[in-house]
Amino acid sequence: MAEYEEWKIYCYDEVTSTNDVIKDYCSEPKQKIVVWAKNQTEGRGRLGRRWQSLRGNLFFSCALEIDMADLSGLVILCGLSLCQIIKELNPQNLVQIKWPNDVLINEAKVSGMLLEKGPNDYIIIGIGVNIINYPQAIDIIYKTTSLQHENITISPENLLKCFISKFNANKNLWQHCGNNEKLVASWLKFAKGIGKKLLVRQNNVEICGMFQGIDANGCLLLENEQGVCHIRAGDVFYTEEN
Ligand code: BTN
Repeated sequence: MAEYEEWKIYCYDEVTSTNDVIKDYCSEPKQKIVVWAKNQTEGRGRLGRRWQSLRGNLFFSCALEIDMADLSGLVILCGLSLCQIIKELNPQNLVQIKWPNDVLINEAKVSGMLLEKGPNDYIIIGIGVNIINYPQAIDIIYKTTSLQHENITISPENLLKCFISKFNANKNLWQHCGNNEKLVASWLKFAKGIGKKLLVRQNNVEICGMFQGIDANGCLLLENEQGVCHIRAGDVFYTEEN
């Protein structure tokens, strides 16, 4: 176990899923925990999908105790922190967030996040970043890429450390200002498709509308003839050039 900026980091060569293993460490109160693995055999993605875990990439989960009222802020914070780091590593790249929390470089997905409830009051955020490999199977519904492919060279360990530092800094700013307003504004600067037409697919239901932003809870705001819908979960498809 290593410690970095108040976070306890547990490192494994191989696990089923870091989101599962981290639950074993959530017994003591008030810990900030990271489980990092070099490989996952049962990596999970959002909406019941599999997360293809190719060696050389970064797979980690963070667990911390939070007030449920702060959950949305925390999720926004994670996506924003990763976008900022990736942009700093190579400012030439177009770095965007695709709601809710996919990070895109030059229009292709490089990272995804999976939020789950942990034991006690812990919340678990699992993050996967394609560093040197990216899945290219035909059943993948989005274009994918890796940091290496976009001219960024960094080791999984250093990227993890950058993330923790950026996350801590953003979290302090956020807690200092007492609401999600500034955080949402920073997130929106990276958001792909603001003011454009989107299609959101939830199971077998599809909703179309204009992407107006996100609310303070992180819900997607989609405006159509029915008014403004606040959408909690779903897959976003861009139906208009951005
Ligand atoms: C998605 O975009 O669908 C979310 C992907 C989340 C993948 C990460 S990798 C680390 C953690 N462990 C998992 O099993 N999933 C998350």
